[in-house]
Amino acid sequence: STVSLIGAPTDVGASVRGAGMGPDALRVAGIVETLRAHKLDVIDRGNLAGPPNPWHEPANGVRHLDEVVTWNRAVFDAVSGALGEGHIPLLMGGDHSLAIGSISAIAKHCRAMGKSLRVLWLDAHSDVNTEAISPSGNLHGMPVSCLLGHGPASLVGWSGQRAALSPEDIDFIGIRSVDAEEKQAIRLLGLSVYDMRHIDEYGMRHTMTEILQDLDADTHLHVSFDLDCLDPLEAPGVGTRVRGGPTYREMQLCMEMIADTGLMGSLDVVEINPALDVRNRTAELAVEFVQSLFGASTLVRER
Ligand code: ARG
Ligand code: MN
Ligand code: MN
Ligand code: MN
Repeated sequence: STVSLIGAPTDVGASVRGAGMGPDALRVAGIVETLRAHKLDVIDRGNLAGPPNPWHEPANGVRHLDEVVTWNRAVFDAVSGALGEGHIPLLMGGDHSLAIGSISAIAKHCRAMGKSLRVLWLDAHSDVNTEAISPSGNLHGMPVSCLLGHGPASLVGWSGQRAALSPEDIDFIGIRSVDAEEKQAIRLLGLSVYDMRHIDEYGMRHTMTEILQDLDADTHLHVSFDLDCLDPLEAPGVGTRVRGGPTYREMQLCMEMIADTGLMGSLDVVEINPALDVRNRTAELAVEFVQSLFGASTLVRER
């Protein structure tokens, strides 16, 4: 299969500057060569263009709404284009607000193809704030709400239906930072949040077995990978660090179990912040995990 790399160099949805350098950090870490070594065809479509970060205060509960909309339009179009060619889109962010454009395009594509969509949200945060409840106004804390049909009007409905996703279409893994009103939203929506407490008690293997058990051959699996999911001791180059995340080994197992399904059809790699990193370590780590998601393993595996 062919992987289309799409760079979206922006931090307009974030609280800290620097995630706009993520796409080039991934290229410097060898993402293209690494995927090619796994016998994948790779097309690097370069970076999308969009507005600079105006660095304004939030207005009506959101910061940089117009800029986030413009960047997400570009992402939506690029991801739609890649899917239309039968490629696997790999969005290189940029901050996590870009998942609005990416997952809206994927949801639209899945509906047209008669496939069911499942999203795995790998993150320290649940990103299910809205403009009414967000303590920060940063849109990278709101993409899940927008996709469920609850965010600012200009970011809702892009898939052709009010909600790109239903609550049962998304599973959260590695969560350990949820704002007070966000907790109520998770409960009201009935979202499946496998938080760190769950992973501590049941282990990554049991957690992933549970999450992946009801997939079938018609499922399109989308992975939205926020690098702050990992423990910051492993991945220091992120803008919103939260201690107590999955270890390197736990995350490798998570990725390998996803790869074993053979169902991953698209991927976001977001929130790498080279300005806060140590010798590009977080981007290098991301490339290792991406490799595992595409089926790299230590030994020849029997399927
Ligand atoms: N919950 C916080 C907020 O809404 C942090 C969100 C961080 N999101 C992220 N994609 N890193 O501001
Ligand atoms: Mn996130
Ligand atoms: Mn996060
Ligand atoms: Mn579920």
